[in-house]
Amino acid sequence: MNPTIVLKEKTFELYLSEEEILDKIKSLAAQLNEDFKNQRPVFLVVLNGSVMLAADLLKEITIECDLSFVKLASYSGTQSSGDVRTLMGLHDDIKDRVVVVIEDIVDTGLTLTELMIQILKQYPKEIRVLTFLRKSQATKYHVQLDYIGFEVPNVFLVGYGLDINGQGRNLRDIYQLKK
Ligand code: IMP
Repeated sequence: MNPTIVLKEKTFELYLSEEEILDKIKSLAAQLNEDFKNQRPVFLVVLNGSVMLAADLLKEITIECDLSFVKLASYSGTQSSGDVRTLMGLHDDIKDRVVVVIEDIVDTGLTLTELMIQILKQYPKEIRVLTFLRKSQATKYHVQLDYIGFEVPNVFLVGYGLDINGQGRNLRDIYQLKK
């Protein structure tokens, strides 16, 4: 693990190690296994950012479940663009199903608000939201979050699925932009 890295000419410093990340994922998965026993939830993974999280989390899920994916984008560089684009919509049937959204990070809450509108149109039985990271100081749009991995400061992060203009998603650890 490197203490600092450079991406797109910006310097980032280590914020959460792979070990801390995987420990948290184990405890989140244990909670999901308990809460959704016998409910066969649909885990709805929000691409691209949640790809690493979903892979590690789902390996720890022992209950019966289904998987579905959507692809949304709202960020440009290190800032929210204020506009959510749906690059791949919701295709699987979620009517009367318990849906658990798997999000990497909630910043302003705009992406999740837009996704909730799309999910609700399909009449699920219940919607729960898991976000691995939450920038609580930045939240503008209120969305209920049922499972939160870490509360993080309002700084730009990369790694473990999070990117800066497409770079850094493959990093095992999470880094914060150096001031
Ligand atoms: P929101 O719509 O403002 O809540 O932003 C949510 C989306 O923006 C996430 O799913 C990420 O794709 C992206 N995002 C928010 N904060 C960061 C960050 O610190 N680094 C990288 N991507 C981020």
